Amino acid sequence: MKAEILKALRQRASYISGQELCNQLDVSRTAIWKTIKQLKEEGYQIEAVQNKGYRIVAEPDNLSAHMLASTCKTSWAGKKVYYFEQLDSTNIMAKKLAEEEAEHGSIVVAEVQTLGRGRRGREWSSPKSCGIWATIILKADILPEKAPMLTIVKAMAVMKAISRITGLKPLIKWPNDILLENKKVCGILTEMSAQIDYINYVVIGVGINVHNKEFQGELATKATSIGIELAKMNHCQTIKRAELLAAVLEDFERYYDLFMQTGDVSLMQSEYNDNLINYNALVRVLDPLAPFEGKALGINAYGELLVEQESGIVPVRSGEVSIMGALGYV
Ligand code: BTN
Repeated sequence: MKAEILKALRQRASYISGQELCNQLDVSRTAIWKTIKQLKEEGYQIEAVQNKGYRIVAEPDNLSAHMLASTCKTSWAGKKVYYFEQLDSTNIMAKKLAEEEAEHGSIVVAEVQTLGRGRRGREWSSPKSCGIWATIILKADILPEKAPMLTIVKAMAVMKAISRITGLKPLIKWPNDILLENKKVCGILTEMSAQIDYINYVVIGVGINVHNKEFQGELATKATSIGIELAKMNHCQTIKRAELLAAVLEDFERYYDLFMQTGDVSLMQSEYNDNLINYNALVRVLDPLAPFEGKALGINAYGELLVEQESGIVPVRSGEVSIMGALGYV
């Protein structure tokens, strides 16, 4: 009901009467009044004028289930939202929920994570309400060896959504980082539970730095946020996290459907390569057993990075290794 009221209020440039809301939602005037009161307590500024009705003036920047439900235009991704003020990690919670009842496409969102994790067990800084800390649960009928391609699909969606909502020009660092001005603005962590030939579920967590004003220690030179980059361009626009997450989910749904059409990433391969920061650049492949250097030629239809060496072209699988630029992070 909160989501329905928010949608109805937003659709109207001026006032919507209490009676019209009652008719649209088929509920009593008291129910409308109570819900509007709750929304106001959550930080929505809703003006109520006698004989005119209600008008929405300002909205808070939160990722609550009703905020997302009223913003997101998807058919399955993010239709069910598990929202938490605080969690250890949205990936950990997503795995628990996936073991239980959670449906394909459900998302887990937290305002703050106390144990946010990146790849290789690294810590992921997730300060309160500064970013999008969210995980999608997929119960997909695909083979386990195809799961790493879902990271490619998610990276495409995040890159596209950031560009669409902010006007900034994000690039992808294969396989799971999104960069703005050569610094990391988003990381992706894909995990799965599977049998040899069958996936129980996949969870894909994204951490997008949105409002962070600065980064400490080693992150100071490597990380950035959307807010920092917009400020550099003298943009006074503040991004609403729900709008950005809704865009990520919409784009994810679109690219996921392309992935399911062919069972690989061939339908997004050229767009991915066009937005790949490492394209035609010298990279170092951090293979734990035998690191090597070569020229990155972009991904193939399976999401593997093709790296050219004197001895030939080597396809590198994302599940096993990551890369760095020959001179540093990029
Ligand atoms: C990386 O770059 O190493 C991946 C970072 C992934 C961070 C996100 S934040 C939401 C989800 N929950 C986690 O604990 N990690 C992912």
